[in-house]
Amino acid sequence: MMNATKSRPVDMVRTGEQNEFLHDVLHGLSCKPKRLPCKYFYDLRGSQLFDRICLLEEYYVTRTEVEIMNQSIQQIATALGEHVLLLEFGSGSSTKTLQLLQHCQQLAGYVPVDISAEHLQNTARQLQEQFPKLVIKPLAADFTQPLVIPKVSDPSQRKVVYFPGSTIGNFTPAKATALLRQIALEVDAGGGLLIGIDLVKDTNVLEAAYNDSQGITAAFNLNLLRRINRELHGTFRVDLFQHRAHFDTSHNRIEMHLISKVPQVVSVANNPFQFAAQETICTEYSHKYVLTDFLQMAAGAGFAYDQHWTDPQSYFAIIHLVAK
Ligand code: TRP
Repeated sequence: MMNATKSRPVDMVRTGEQNEFLHDVLHGLSCKPKRLPCKYFYDLRGSQLFDRICLLEEYYVTRTEVEIMNQSIQQIATALGEHVLLLEFGSGSSTKTLQLLQHCQQLAGYVPVDISAEHLQNTARQLQEQFPKLVIKPLAADFTQPLVIPKVSDPSQRKVVYFPGSTIGNFTPAKATALLRQIALEVDAGGGLLIGIDLVKDTNVLEAAYNDSQGITAAFNLNLLRRINRELHGTFRVDLFQHRAHFDTSHNRIEMHLISKVPQVVSVANNPFQFAAQETICTEYSHKYVLTDFLQMAAGAGFAYDQHWTDPQSYFAIIHLVAK
């Protein structure tokens, strides 16, 4: 495995992506309260830490979703139909996709979409070895931006976006609705969305999932500061910030924060930012849904409900929606 902690030299010329990163960080740290967009978690080290979160005992999300997939894969494959062009949003290591790739009949192709180009290439290469006949067209992109969907030869294809992991929960309801609307347009009428959502449940279970005892989630959250230091000439002292996650019952969401342990000044590309002791940077929301509320939101974005599958405790739901 590559040593991801050994940082690359700071790029002299900023790419378009890095300009956006810098702009978003300067903007977020100027807001009151301070915040940083969660999409920047996923550099190579962040993606690897995220894979470790998914294996944690306390993080029930991945385990439960995989369990539902294993239980219901035949029905799910039948619901999606044949000749599917499967686009996966935030594909990461594609671990949840294997079942779909094995069970969907006559797949027109698989397009894993991920913001971490390096991680994506590694995964696509491994998958191609496992599925030599499958047309795989990885797309290194930010799926919140309109996508240019790669062409595949199958004329009877049905486009389906697979959006697992409750990643939709990381968007505010307004942004989630906008993203769903964009997906409905991208898959065309009759196309599908197979989406995983995390359901509202006991607060203790929720909070434990985002405050694991091994500190992997803390390392994942703090890695964002390291990335800013490395890529944007940041001066964050990572040891002077602390991870915290709590469930906000009024918004049904987990909020992840980085808390400044002391009063301090941090600069990013020579722009100073003042922190009071205990001041927080909000780095992520993870919204939890009541199924009917989610379906209502999806209906408003142009999707009709088809079917859903859940686990015995109703912790998580996988839903198939059809674009109207
Ligand atoms: N979308 C998932 C969730 O909100 C996974 C995830 C995204 C996550 N960022 C995270 C999990 C940070 C733990 C910590 O649960």
